[in-house]
Amino acid sequence: MTGGAGFIGSNLVERLLEDGARVRVLDNFSTGARTNLGFAPRFRGRLEVLRGDIRNLSVVLRAARGARVIFHQAAMRSVPRSVKDPLGANENNVTGTLHVLEAARRCRVPRVVYASSSSVYGDRPDLPKREDQPPAPVSPYAASKAAGEQYATIWTRLYGVETVGLRYFNVFGPRQDPKSEYAAVIPRFILWGLRDRPLEVHGDGAQSRDFTYIDNVVEANLLAARAPGVRSEVFNVGCGSRVSLLEIVAKLEAVLGRPLERRHTPPRPGDVLHTLADVAKAKRLLGYAPLVEFDEGFRRTVEYFKSSFKS
Ligand SMILES: NC(=O)c1ccc[n+]([C@@H]2O[C@H](COP(=O)([O-])OP(=O)(O)OC[C@H]3O[C@@H](n4cnc5c(N)ncnc54)[C@H](O)[C@@H]3O)[C@@H](O)[C@H]2O)c1
Repeated sequence: MTGGAGFIGSNLVERLLEDGARVRVLDNFSTGARTNLGFAPRFRGRLEVLRGDIRNLSVVLRAARGARVIFHQAAMRSVPRSVKDPLGANENNVTGTLHVLEAARRCRVPRVVYASSSSVYGDRPDLPKREDQPPAPVSPYAASKAAGEQYATIWTRLYGVETVGLRYFNVFGPRQDPKSEYAAVIPRFILWGLRDRPLEVHGDGAQSRDFTYIDNVVEANLLAARAPGVRSEVFNVGCGSRVSLLEIVAKLEAVLGRPLERRHTPPRPGDVLHTLADVAKAKRLLGYAPLVEFDEGFRRTVEYFKSSFKS
C-alpha cells in the first residue's frame, strides 16, 4: 500500500491486518506519521514499512514485488496546497501514480485500487454526481486525480493491469490530521471547538459536502480489491447525503454541549460549492453501502479527538 501511514491508509492497513493479510507500506512520511501505525505490534511481523517516495520508480518497484493488490493512497492531498504548488501536485499525484501503475505491470500485480477524488467533478451545479458525468477539474489537485484515472484506464487496456478507482467524497474520522495548514475542515473544527478557539469558516459556511466516515471508505477499498468484472471502473464513495459547514458547527455545539464562536474568512480559490455522491454504481457492482452515517461517524470522531488531544 502506498500512503499507508496517512489518515485513510493507516485505517485501511489496520483493517487488512485484522482480516489476516500481510501488508507492505510505502510512505515518505511527508504528511503521514509512524504513530498512525502504532497498532503494528498487535500483528507481529505481518506489517512491513518501507520509507520511500512514489516519485522514485525503483523504490515503487521494490515495494510492489510479490503483492497481490496495490492500494494506492499516497498523494499530495489538499486543493489549496495544489494551488500553491501545482508542479508538486503533478509530480506526486500524476508521476507517482504512473510509477505505481508501471510497477504493477512489471511486477505482475493483478489489481491496483487507487484513491481518486470527488473533486474531479468540479463545480457544475448538477447533483448528485454520477460517474458518467464528464470530469471538469477546477484545481491542480483535481486535474492530477483526473489524469491518474485516465492513466489507470490505459494501463488496464494496454497492459492488462486491473485498476479500480475510488472517488472519495470528503473523508473524516480518527487519525485525520487536525493541525497542519492544510487540515480538513472536520478535524480542524473539532480541535478548535475542544480548545475553545473560534471556528474559522471559509465564505458564508453554506457550502456543503458529502462527508464520508472512514469505515465506509475502508469497506469500499476491500470490496474493490475483490469484486469481479470491475477492471478500469471508477466508483463514487460517499454517503449520498450532504452537510453544510454551518450544520457541522451546530452539530459540534450539540455534541460538546456549548455554543462556539465563528469567524468568517474569504472563500478559498479552487474550492467547489457543493458535493453529493450518487453511490448506485458502487452498490450495484461492488455491493457497497455506507455502513456508518454522518451523525454516528461525527460522534465517534469527536470522541477520538477528545481522547487524543486532551490539552
Ligand atoms: N481525505 C479525504 O477527504 C480525501 C478525499 C478524496 C481523496 N482522497 C485521497 O485519498 C488518499 C489518502 O488521503 P489522506 O486523507 O489519507 O491523506 P494523508 O495526507 O493523511 O495520507 C497520504 C499519505 O501519503 C504519503 N505520501 C504523500 N506523498 C507521498 C510520496 N510522494 N511518496 C510516498 N508517500 C507519500 C503521506 O506521507 C501520507 O502518509 C489521497 O490519495 C487523497 O488524495 C482523500
